[in-house]
Amino acid sequence: MSFYITTPIYYVNDIPHIGHSYTTVVADVLTRYHKLFGEAIYFLTGTDEHGAKVQQTAAKRGLDPQAHVDELVLRFQSVWRELNIEPNFFVRTTMDFHKKVVQDCLQKLYDKGEIYIEEYEGYYSVSEEMFFTEKDLIDGKTPQGNDVQLVKEKNYFFKMSKYQERLIKHIQDNPKFIQPDFRKNEVLGFLRQPLEDLCISRPKTRLSWGIELPFDKDYVTYVWFDALINYVSALGYSQPGKDENFKKFWNEAIHLIGKDILTTHAVYWPTMLMALDIPLPKMIFAHGWWMMSGNLKMSKSLGNVVNPLDMKNVVGVDGLRYFLTRDIYLGNDAQFSSDLVVNRVNSELANNLGNLLSRSLNLVEKYFASQVPDALLKSSASEALKKLALETADKVRADILAMSPNTAVGHVVDLLNAANKYMEERAPWKQAKTSLAEAAESLYCSLEVLRIAAILLSPVMPQKTSQLLERLGWRSSLKFEDSKTWGLLEPGQSTVKGDPLFPRVELSKEISN
Ligand code: MSP
Repeated sequence: MSFYITTPIYYVNDIPHIGHSYTTVVADVLTRYHKLFGEAIYFLTGTDEHGAKVQQTAAKRGLDPQAHVDELVLRFQSVWRELNIEPNFFVRTTMDFHKKVVQDCLQKLYDKGEIYIEEYEGYYSVSEEMFFTEKDLIDGKTPQGNDVQLVKEKNYFFKMSKYQERLIKHIQDNPKFIQPDFRKNEVLGFLRQPLEDLCISRPKTRLSWGIELPFDKDYVTYVWFDALINYVSALGYSQPGKDENFKKFWNEAIHLIGKDILTTHAVYWPTMLMALDIPLPKMIFAHGWWMMSGNLKMSKSLGNVVNPLDMKNVVGVDGLRYFLTRDIYLGNDAQFSSDLVVNRVNSELANNLGNLLSRSLNLVEKYFASQVPDALLKSSASEALKKLALETADKVRADILAMSPNTAVGHVVDLLNAANKYMEERAPWKQAKTSLAEAAESLYCSLEVLRIAAILLSPVMPQKTSQLLERLGWRSSLKFEDSKTWGLLEPGQSTVKGDPLFPRVELSKEISN
């Protein structure tokens, strides 16, 4: 089996915020799960570097656009490094191979008669890089609330309209193509109106920072046409001899995107692919948004943009990754605040997981000289905990395959809750005074649960879980099978108590909101 996931390629002009980090962390987490399940994986992210906005800001800074984007891309790359995000490739639309593939696609469509030239009038939003018609506008602005300008010019068009019926049929025949279901219905609703052709060019007189049309040197390509192609160009499409990844991964493609860019991905992109005779991706999954206090969107103008590195400084990289995976159903909106992050990390990492760990390792140090105790499972409570532990891996896997990472993590939380309850009830600190064998049984069970939980949480918290496993004396490489097998901790193996691995977090005043 193979797994291919993409994030949107982010506008290089933007400062990476918690919203961009969300998509990218979730894609990284899902990729690491599939890797743990033993699949071949490919995770792609990158930056969208052409278009009017980039040209304008570069001009304001008195810089050549390429120099400007070369500088700005580093912000995304360094934030992803800090969040322990490991894409297989970071694509930039200014890379030569990408520009060449975009031009090949344009030429192919032009030669097939899929592109024509016509006089056009429409309302253009620079911030969304899209044309709107009069009827799309609300109080003279785009539905997202951005300013538009009326533009009248000759442009090239892609015959998108002719694919309308084929696209509707594909969506209906492939119920998982657009997810969640309510987003699929939204797209089908959009497709009940006649689909227009897509303007895919910009005259160089107005915009020069783009990929030149191979059949008309006075125009560059529309930035969305350029950007969407990254999903195949990065895999080697149309690059003979270098298209191994395209052959291996393309059929498995999952585009993870925010709900704000559903139309471009679920309508423009599939029709482009149809015209290019490329099979459609397996799934387009539109996730929801993190909303700020007052149910407001995160935006520069409202001054409520959250820098992921500020949050990382408070709860650590794995704490932030945990929150972003756990606190939201993929697909729905959720509330974001520093308090919510801190609460989640304190309740599920410091209390639930952290307490089980430090309590267990303390007792193993005290009564068993910091060695995994040898134990026989005699009580029904131990058997029940073992059974729950062994069922957890398959539940986690099923939810990951269903693109539901928060409930996948929830199964591990349930297991840890059960283990804490088991410890409370059996109280090995009391058992040790009357029967060391009983205390050994309790502690062995709790260490095994911790080992299994750490393997199953490793995609979310790679650093903390590897430290946790080391403390248990577990040095094997991560294997999913090991989370489905009981009794792998060797009695006599040394454990290390150490400082609390998940300390409670206090929210400092400055970033509280
Ligand atoms: N460049 C285009 C995408 C081209 S893909 C071929 C673009 N870039 S963007 O920088 O604006 O990124 C938008 C993406 O950032 C959203 O689709 C979403 O993935 C993420 N988010 C931005 N704000 C967000 C929230 N407040 N909450 C969650 N995700 C959000 O659009």
